[in-house]
Amino acid sequence: MRRCVIFDLDGTLTQSEEGIFRCAEYALEKMQWKKPDAQTLRRFIGPPLVFSFQEYAGMTREQAERATELYRERYTTVGLFENRVYPGIRTLLRALKKRGDWVAVATGKPQGPSERILAYFGLDRWIDRVVGPDHGAEAGKAELIRAALPDSWDTAYMAGDRKFDIEGGKEAGLRTIGAGFGYGSEEELRGSGCDLYAASVQELTQILCGDQPLPKGQFLSMEGLDGSGKSTQLRLLTEALDRFGYEVVHSREPGGCPISEKIREIILDRANEGMTAETEALLYAASRAQHVHDVILPAVRGGKLLLCDRFIDSSIAYQGGGRELGVEEVMDINQYAIHGLFPDLTVFLDLPHTTALSRRYGASEPDRLEIEGEPFHARVEAAYREMIARHPDRFIAVDASRGAEEIGKDIAGKVLSRLMQMEENDG
Ligand code: TYD
Repeated sequence: MRRCVIFDLDGTLTQSEEGIFRCAEYALEKMQWKKPDAQTLRRFIGPPLVFSFQEYAGMTREQAERATELYRERYTTVGLFENRVYPGIRTLLRALKKRGDWVAVATGKPQGPSERILAYFGLDRWIDRVVGPDHGAEAGKAELIRAALPDSWDTAYMAGDRKFDIEGGKEAGLRTIGAGFGYGSEEELRGSGCDLYAASVQELTQILCGDQPLPKGQFLSMEGLDGSGKSTQLRLLTEALDRFGYEVVHSREPGGCPISEKIREIILDRANEGMTAETEALLYAASRAQHVHDVILPAVRGGKLLLCDRFIDSSIAYQGGGRELGVEEVMDINQYAIHGLFPDLTVFLDLPHTTALSRRYGASEPDRLEIEGEPFHARVEAAYREMIARHPDRFIAVDASRGAEEIGKDIAGKVLSRLMQMEENDG
């Protein structure tokens, strides 16, 4: 039995307002036109541009045509990618493909730009067909939807955020789902008679996939010496992952869940001077075992992307290297704790320990591990390097001596391309 799911693009798979606003502003500025307020700019989403420039900016038809040209000049090069994938859409598309559904896009945006957007975000691998009106043509939504369907099918859904999607879907004989997280209101969607209504991507996933288990998510960790700029880079990476529609769940080690956070307090407490290196290593492993069970596994099994501030490599580096317990010994107790659950990818912020230390001590009061001397940190750095050499496929090492933005772009580019590769291999 062949099931088909047809999606609208803007407001259903992606959120395009940033690009639309910026391109409209660019055109208005170039024409030395007064910039409309944010409310008015919002109305540019949806209708044809020539109409919007006349209606919402008060231009003549001729001026509006010139403004449209300027708009397109920026849109085709930059604005197209000032777009975001709704969180959870990647997992939904992967799940549909795994079920064997025919998945297509029927959009009012011309086909070329639509395909470029889908390819840029790596969504194209899950989509069988993209249909948009040819330049200038005024194709009705029902026609686009029909063209997006294969020759034969048994059931088909149309999911979209505006009444045109619902009306077009009905006209083409499909079951319709109102995507309430897009640009149309619940009133508009229900008013147009949608068969089903999804207030969120999660509800849409529930409608289309029911209780079918979702494809596995991803597990990423970030590592580095104290002072390597991890917090800033975690924030920048999260922004990039969000934009691509990954549902990011954050966590950290030691800690991440109530039991592990209590263990964290014991480990980092400066009063616990008498703690042996073995106790410390076992406490880190114990805290990790609970964290994997309570947070990491549930997130990954739910199709989320778990981004962890430090994981097993910190134990290898700090306890195995720094405390000289030995890489193999620390690996053994951790294997017991985590049953072989290594991150899919680990970003290492590469900075010589001497540079990292001077940055760190300039920042705030050091904790119990940070007050260790220079040789300790040299051993930590060496142990990290050993892990990277052992697991070149898992690690992404980036030069962390550059400016934060530059490092952030480097990390985002490398991580996203590896994630998309993983999705590709996963089918
Ligand atoms: P964290 O709070 O992440 O400090 P920072 O923000 O400076 O990275 O980690 C606290 C300390 O714990 C840090 O110095 C590294 C150390 N640590 C280990 O020694 N072993 C481990 O397994 C982990 C997770 C952290």
